Amino acid sequence: MKIAVLSDIHSNLEALTAVLEDIQKQDVQEIYCLGDVLGYGPNPNEVMDLAREFQLTLLGNHDGAVYDNEGIEHFNWIAAMAANWTRKEVEPHSGDGADEAKLENWNRLSQWEPMEIMGRVLFAHGSCEGNREYIFQPKDAPPTFQFMALKGISTCFIGHTHIPCIITEEDGYIPQKAGETYPKIGYGKRMIINVGSVGQPRDRDWRACYVIVDGPELTYRRVEYDVDTTIKKIYEIDSLNNFLGDRLRER
Ligand SMILES: [Fe+2]
Repeated sequence: MKIAVLSDIHSNLEALTAVLEDIQKQDVQEIYCLGDVLGYGPNPNEVMDLAREFQLTLLGNHDGAVYDNEGIEHFNWIAAMAANWTRKEVEPHSGDGADEAKLENWNRLSQWEPMEIMGRVLFAHGSCEGNREYIFQPKDAPPTFQFMALKGISTCFIGHTHIPCIITEEDGYIPQKAGETYPKIGYGKRMIINVGSVGQPRDRDWRACYVIVDGPELTYRRVEYDVDTTIKKIYEIDSLNNFLGDRLRER
């Protein structure tokens, strides 16, 4: 089965739309999202609508902060302001015309979990320790590798750092290359695969990032999108700091 794994959309509608168009061209059967659908970006409701099509959506730390302030005390002020603005946008209020779409999206959000095990695969936002824990380097990975060994899991997909990479127990850190296919996923070696970020990449490549998994083969995809439109929308919303737009151009 061919699946797409994506993460950290961060309310970026233009990036998600471009990624979904790219996915459509590739005969993908299922889409799994590793969380942080919300936060930072200007189109939370539209992105929540599109997320209904995903077979799995995890709870990122920004989604938790939007839903019930979970962990918001750990955010910097720019992220906290964005989360508070996002909550006002997506939270349904009784008596305001009963917005069914918002209500359904809010109910879906309430059911997301920070991680999910499917067979021999672990899907997590940050790590097996929670959606705020970061795995940047091999030195951050032992708790998750130990958890995988305990549960008989060979492959773990994560997001959260917005930096795509592969970490294996034996070979350490392997940076991703766009368009490159990595074979032998799930064959013996325990592997943590960071799928990068759709809506706010932080690896000095502005293009939206996600992965396609086709049996044992993993391919990183980078997709250009209309970044100027997203930045313009961010500039027009007072509660979203201009920095959140400017950083989308980082390269
Ligand atoms: Fe994120």
